[in-house]
Amino acid sequence: MPFRPRYTGLIEKYRDRLPISDDTRIISLGEGNTPLIRLNNIPKMMSKKVEIYVKYEGLNPTGSFKDRGMCMAVTKAVEEGSKAIICASTGNTSAAAAAYAARAGITAFVLIPEGKIALGKLSQAMMHGAVVIQIKGNFDVGMQLVKDVAKEAPVTIVNSINPYRLQGQKTAAFEIVEELGSAPDFHCLPVGNAGNISAHWMGYKEYHDHGIVNNLPRMVGYQAAGSAPFIRGHMVDDPETVATAIRIGHPQSWDLAWKLQKESNGWFDECSDEDILAAQKLLAEKEGIFCEPASAAALAGAMRDVNNGKIPEGSKIVCTLTGHGLKDPDTAIKQSTSPLMTVDATMLAVKKAILDNMVG
Ligand code: F0G
Repeated sequence: MPFRPRYTGLIEKYRDRLPISDDTRIISLGEGNTPLIRLNNIPKMMSKKVEIYVKYEGLNPTGSFKDRGMCMAVTKAVEEGSKAIICASTGNTSAAAAAYAARAGITAFVLIPEGKIALGKLSQAMMHGAVVIQIKGNFDVGMQLVKDVAKEAPVTIVNSINPYRLQGQKTAAFEIVEELGSAPDFHCLPVGNAGNISAHWMGYKEYHDHGIVNNLPRMVGYQAAGSAPFIRGHMVDDPETVATAIRIGHPQSWDLAWKLQKESNGWFDECSDEDILAAQKLLAEKEGIFCEPASAAALAGAMRDVNNGKIPEGSKIVCTLTGHGLKDPDTAIKQSTSPLMTVDATMLAVKKAILDNMVG
């Protein structure tokens, strides 16, 4: 049997494209290298013919794309002698920060909005031994507090304002180009702080500038309607959405995002919570892929924009599924319509349940 080298994470793989030196101690959990899955069934249900791929970032070590950036941020923090990291988070960043801090043997402080993060994410931060500080305020308030406190305490901020985060996250674009042999026509992502969409654009541009690929995608960012500063054109003070990961009204990468929108000739748009949940369910039921609500905004928006012609027929589309569905079991169970029944533990009762529910 032919052997291939063990995959040891995106820093090793892309070390020539990352700000790493030969003797940097790399803090990795094998992040990156996530599957790019071509959708089979959903495109057949659509009125126009397109190719849709999903980049399943939920299969990173802590279940979201944050690991790509966090391995870099923590690696650099440790290199610079930091003993503690801090972030504000809607959940996934805190899970990743907690895990990578544990791996590195340093402390993670995480500020989360009380009652507004999904259960799986909270369990991760707690399990990995982070100091979890719930605040009576939303993500945006937490972010400001983190910035203020980092001026006075010996802690390194690992939110996406930390430039190493975007450096790590740009590698998702590299992987996509390497698998498709070119950039897609459209790349759709859910947008909160807009760090990830900015990082992807950096990655695509880098490969383009270095002659590795000769096309660039149009970048499309979708926000939840109740939490859509890029669509309103100004900051939003009380963001609200079922997609708690992107419940953000004051995006940290505001300028970067507008710049890439212009450069890539892309756009921002919004999706209702209903459409987001419907896309999440469709993906789970028709393709066997479970993503968290925020992630489904990319697919919800892409399907709509194919339908209304903004994305033309024949396009090759990549949607980033930013986080795993298991992160938020409560929302999933609440909207599930699959029969959940309890029957007697007898052959007869089980047989009846099967016959009653046989489709076709
Ligand atoms: N999707 C998921 C699942 C997220 O967790 C986030 C952000 C985004 C999309 C948006 O990415 O902010 O780069 O535009 N989550 C952050 C957190 C805010 O704290 O976990 P963005």
